[in-house]
Amino acid sequence: MSKGKVDVLLGLQWGDEGKGKVVDVLTPEYDVIARFQGGPNAGHTLEFNGEKYVLRSIPSGIFQGGKVNVIGNGVVLAPDLFMAEAQELERSGHDLKSRLYISRKAHLIMPTHRLLDAAYESAKGASKVGTTGKGIGPAYTDKVSRNGLRVGDIFDGFEEKYTQHKTQHEAILRSLNYTHYDLSQTEQAWMKGVNYLRGFNIVDSEHELNHLLQNGKSILCEGAQGTMLDVDFGSYPFVTSSNTITAGACSGLGIGPNKIGNVYGIMKAYCTRVGSGPFPTELFDKTGKQLRDLGHEYGAVTGRERRCGWIDLVALRYAIMINGVTHLIMMKSDVLDGFSTIKACIAYQRDGKILDDFPYDIEHNIQPVYKELPGWQTDMTGLTSEDQFPAAFKAYIDFLEEELKTPIKIVSIGPDRKQTIVRKG
Ligand code: GDP
Ligand code: IMO
Ligand code: MG
Repeated sequence: MSKGKVDVLLGLQWGDEGKGKVVDVLTPEYDVIARFQGGPNAGHTLEFNGEKYVLRSIPSGIFQGGKVNVIGNGVVLAPDLFMAEAQELERSGHDLKSRLYISRKAHLIMPTHRLLDAAYESAKGASKVGTTGKGIGPAYTDKVSRNGLRVGDIFDGFEEKYTQHKTQHEAILRSLNYTHYDLSQTEQAWMKGVNYLRGFNIVDSEHELNHLLQNGKSILCEGAQGTMLDVDFGSYPFVTSSNTITAGACSGLGIGPNKIGNVYGIMKAYCTRVGSGPFPTELFDKTGKQLRDLGHEYGAVTGRERRCGWIDLVALRYAIMINGVTHLIMMKSDVLDGFSTIKACIAYQRDGKILDDFPYDIEHNIQPVYKELPGWQTDMTGLTSEDQFPAAFKAYIDFLEEELKTPIKIVSIGPDRKQTIVRKG
């Protein structure tokens, strides 16, 4: 934690790096946890005391008592899904209303945004993005084109505004020949969600956060998705529709760039991706399947199989640069426990030439150059201190730190809160 500053924790790969788990682990060090972008496309998994929770829009600081959790202006919120998520937490005894603040400026995902998401995907044919179908792209499109509905709108003449927006969406759906849908049930659940949302602390979160900061409180910003899914710097067009990078924390919460302190970049000890798009180190062989099986690589929200491959240091160097990462966090190290050798992509080659920088296009004609390292072939899931790390794992860490020029501060060796090793120094 850096005093008087706001720390940021975000994914460096294609999402699902384990952000939820680590935010939960770090929460005791902070007073406030704030989500700054994305929406229910996220699925952040937390495991403790034998229980497992998947959070989508609610920040992962909600389980460590007494902390303020904020859903920032950069988030897109689906009231029906939010209600389902919040009620499940309430049922399991976690009081939300007193410690969750929601920005008045966060945009709403309407039922018709989800239909538009499906319609745009089907219009794309073979070049589908493979979205989560949660209406993320259309909701952000409406925000940027100044057609959006915000949380702050739900208090005043809302039905009329809603109908007006829905009518516009239906015209677009007709133009896309997407006409076979029945909105009645989802719309009812959505309106219930809107009503439920009215009972929460709806605030100008940029003011709240800056006041908290001035009063000496510490803030951790929680990213969703990952840098390679960033709308500007990710593998466009196979990306999400928000800025998932550190700069997104500034715009998604109203925090000045000079207030940013530590930037924690999370990566897996290997790499995964869900949905379409390029993935230079993807493995289509039995090693890829082994990674998927050992790492239980299936989407937390959609249940889709995640594509698996070796760690990509070229993409990681790029992500570290774009985000100004100060510390790395390496997740799922235990998944590699049984491998006799491990590979890491240290460079990209195109037409026999090594590329100096991460290229504009990673979709065509990229050959990863691998370095092979010995595996540790030791079960690490029960380790409690870095002194117990097997020598080959220590060597893997040293190699990554040297290649990435950034210290690895935390190592995760299992899904449980307790299976986390914070390194010295
Ligand atoms: P997020 O979206 O970045 O929060 O990550 P997800 O929750 O979508 O995916 C991470 C998955 O890996 C979840 O199922 C976690 O429970 C699990 N996980 C997190 N850290 C570890 C780890 O160190 N080892 C193993 N085996 N699983 C982990
Ligand atoms: P967390 O926060 C992994 C992917 C989708 C698709 C692309 C666009 O759990 O890491 P969208 O629905 O956002 O328009 O889909 O982005 N995607 C994710 N992949 N983890 C996520 O979130 C993701 N959120 C979106 O699979 O390829
Ligand atoms: Mg996830």
